[in-house]
Amino acid sequence: MLEQKALVTGATAGLGRAVALALAEQGAHVVVHGRDAKRANAVVERIAEAGGKAEACLVDLGSLAQVRDLAEQVGEVGLLVNNAGVGAGRPPYRKRELSADGHELRLAVNYLAPVLLTRRLLSGLGSGARIVNVGSVGQAPVDFADLRLDRGYRGSEAYFRSKFALAAFTFDLAAELDGRDVTVNCVHPASLMNTHMVRESLIPPMSTVGTGAKAMLNVATGAAGERSGRYFDGLNPAPAHEGTYDLATRARLREATAEMLASFL
Ligand SMILES: NC(=O)c1ccc[n+]([C@@H]2O[C@H](COP(=O)([O-])OP(=O)(O)OC[C@H]3O[C@@H](n4cnc5c(N)ncnc54)[C@H](OP(=O)(O)O)[C@@H]3O)[C@@H](O)[C@H]2O)c1
Repeated sequence: MLEQKALVTGATAGLGRAVALALAEQGAHVVVHGRDAKRANAVVERIAEAGGKAEACLVDLGSLAQVRDLAEQVGEVGLLVNNAGVGAGRPPYRKRELSADGHELRLAVNYLAPVLLTRRLLSGLGSGARIVNVGSVGQAPVDFADLRLDRGYRGSEAYFRSKFALAAFTFDLAAELDGRDVTVNCVHPASLMNTHMVRESLIPPMSTVGTGAKAMLNVATGAAGERSGRYFDGLNPAPAHEGTYDLATRARLREATAEMLASFL
């Protein structure tokens, strides 16, 4: 039994919803994060009907002030699943959007939000806590000279960069937490699951959220072991993009991230 409080971001749809339901089934008290009250409450009700414990928390992760509020509302957790994400968008992937703080939206929601949320929750993570970041096999190095992707925008490239940054952050944080009984890992759940972001991209789905949820639960429940700083492709440990292991790149990313999060950390 998972007798702990688990925050799952983006739990109103797709993979996050499936993970939230599965964690509740295993006994976790799930904080169902979303930005749509009706859909978040529907997940909470479904968990309650099955005899589980859940509450909704509504926050737009495209606003760093709201991310900070989410951490305050949630307080202490034993499991944090940074799942919410924005996909590549619709072909030809040219619609460039900025977050409330003026950052490129995919970088903001898929990378800056989980980094800030994790950092704000760190002091309340007890012994044995786990952080699981939802990554992707689609990763591309961040261009530090063009963090907002002002030139030649493509949503797919923006998505790949955000997931590269999230994997790099995972490895950095694992090193930082060394000696503390808290693990952080990054999981590519499954390729082209049948979810909103894949349907929107018009690429035919290849797998189900059930398959992705199994990969997530494998790490989130500790079944995969309690090692930290790993990247998983589905159920198996695998290498992330080689650039995420480059210490100079990671140092630059830390510096750029600290600047972008400066007034919120
Ligand atoms: N689908 C795949 O094949 C695949 C493959 C690899 C990795 N992943 C990763 O898996 C995770 C879940 O994606 P999914 O496939 O389940 O997609 P999805 O069905 O589109 O779900 C995305 C979730 O993120 C939430 N979200 C998006 N923008 C948000 C914002 N600004 N503030 C708050 N919540 C926001 C969505 O809320 P709304 O419903 O309100 O929009 C939704 O709950 C993502 O990190 C994705 O990158 C997916």
